Amino acid sequence: QAPVLILGIETSCDETAASVVLRDESGRGIIRSNVVRSQLDEHAAFGGVVPELAARAHVEWLDHIIAQAVDEAGIALADLDAVAATAGPGLIGGVLVGLTTGKALAAALDKPLVAVNHLEGHALTARLTDHVQFPYLMLLVSGGHSQFVLVRGVGEYERWGGTIDDALGEAFDKVAKLLSLGHPGGPAVERAAKAGDPRRFKFPRPLLREARLDFSFSGLKTAVRLQAEALAPLDEQDVNDIAASFQASVTEIVATRSRQALQRFRAELPEAAPQLVVAGGVAANRSIAAALAVVAAETGARLVVPPVALCTDNGAMVAWAGAERLALGAADRLDVAARPRWPL
Ligand code: KG4
Ligand code: ZN
Repeated sequence: QAPVLILGIETSCDETAASVVLRDESGRGIIRSNVVRSQLDEHAAFGGVVPELAARAHVEWLDHIIAQAVDEAGIALADLDAVAATAGPGLIGGVLVGLTTGKALAAALDKPLVAVNHLEGHALTARLTDHVQFPYLMLLVSGGHSQFVLVRGVGEYERWGGTIDDALGEAFDKVAKLLSLGHPGGPAVERAAKAGDPRRFKFPRPLLREARLDFSFSGLKTAVRLQAEALAPLDEQDVNDIAASFQASVTEIVATRSRQALQRFRAELPEAAPQLVVAGGVAANRSIAAALAVVAAETGARLVVPPVALCTDNGAMVAWAGAERLALGAADRLDVAARPRWPL
C-alpha cells in the first residue's frame, strides 16, 4: 500500500491537539509531529472541565495548533493525503469545532476525511507505538472512561465490561478535590500517596466479589469523603494516608479485574498470545502500572503501556486510527455527524 500522510485532530475534551502521522508501505506508523495544548488553566478555577469554555478555547487555538503540527512535520498542508478528526464521543461543542475544521480542510484539499471514534483512537494507539498485533485486550482508564475492550481488529471491538458509575480518573479527580489537592487530581493524589500509609484506612472494593468485569468507584469515593469528614480538620499526614489508602484500593480493584479479564482472554482465545494494552491518563499512575506488570507476569501476558503522552488525549492517536481505517478503504462523507455518545 502507498504511504499515507495524515493529519489527526482531537478536540473532544480539554486538549486541543493536532498531529501528522505517516503510515509507511509496510503499515508502520511514524509520528511526524504531535502538538497538544491542554486547557488546564482555563478550567482550573472550576475544579473540572466546563464544556462551553472548552469549546471556545478549541475555537481560539485549533488553527494555530494545526499550523504548528504541519510546520513541525516539515510539510505543507497540500502534502497531506487525508484528514482525520474525532467525531465523538465527547463534549459536543468541542467535537464540532474539530470535526468541522477537519471537514473544511478535507474539502479544501480535496482529500478523504475520516471521522474517528475517540475510543478507537485509544484502542489502536499501541499498534502505532509498539506495533502490537491483533487480538489484544485493552484497559482504557481515563477521566471519562473505564472499560475493558477486546480488540480483534480494526472496527472489531467487544466491550467486556466497564464502570457503572464514575470513571477511574474521575474518582482520582474527585478524591483530590475532597482533599484540596487541586486539579487534575490523578498526579496530585499519587504524589500525596507516596508520603502516606496505604494501610491506615481500609476503603471498600466495590463490586469486587462479583465475577463481572465491571467497575464501580462512586461508593469508594463516598467512603473517602466520610473518612475525611470524620477526621476534619485534616493535617498533612491524614491527607497523605487517605490518598495512599484510596490508591491502594483502586490498585487492587484494577489488578483483580485485569487478572480476571486476562483469564477470560485465555479461555476465549486459546490460540492467541494474551496481551494487555493500557490506555488513558490513569496509565501514568506508577502504583497501578506496577500492579498490572505483576498481573501480566502471573498470567503470562504481554503488557503494553504506551508513553504517557500517547496514553492521554492527543492527535496522533486520531491520525493513526484514521490511517488504519483508510487502509481498509473506509472514509466518511462530509455530512458525517458529530456524536456526543458513541460506544465502540
Ligand atoms: O486520558 P486523559 O488525559 O483524558 C481523558 O479523560 O480523556 O485522562 C485524564 C485523567 C484525569 O482524570 C487524571 O486525573 C488522570 O487521568 N490521571 C491520573 C494520573 N495522571 C493522570 N490518575 C492517576 N494517577 C496519575 N498519575
Ligand atoms: Zn481520551
